[in-house]
Amino acid sequence: MPSYQLSVNGKQYTVEADAQMPLLWVIRDLIGLTGTKYGCGIAQCGACTVHLSGAPVRSCSFPVSAVADQPVTTIEGISNDNSHPVQRAWIAEQVPQCGYCQSGQIMSAIALLKDKPKPTDEDINAAMNGNICRCGTYTRIRKAIKTAANYTN
Ligand code: FES
Ligand code: FES
Repeated sequence: MPSYQLSVNGKQYTVEADAQMPLLWVIRDLIGLTGTKYGCGIAQCGACTVHLSGAPVRSCSFPVSAVADQPVTTIEGISNDNSHPVQRAWIAEQVPQCGYCQSGQIMSAIALLKDKPKPTDEDINAAMNGNICRCGTYTRIRKAIKTAANYTN
């Protein structure tokens, strides 16, 4: 079994895994960070979104062997104390319902705000379109992204 060196949330890990093992399984089962969720397993729902070098990827469909030296950030890595502006906005706007999709939503929202600090509704639709919420929290997600934009600008 090959071994891989990964940087996850600023910590170094060595994992032994099949080259095709999805990064999601490495994060959850080998490293033990369970904030990133499994939804569809086929890159369609966004529940498993993490950042690779700051860009959002669907970790359910991303083989560990393709990570190479790109740093991985999961929901656990964005702050130690829920102080990230997007987390604060999510709390202020009471976004989650069941919560299952929300770590993926937050990781997509952070990537959006990094690219577009003042996103329009169209920007939000385009960036968040692939993050499905079966509880239908979309209106609050949109509001919280705008609230976060106000915190940071
Ligand atoms: S679990 Fe990865 S996109 Fe749905
Ligand atoms: S809050 Fe339940 S799936 Fe989004």
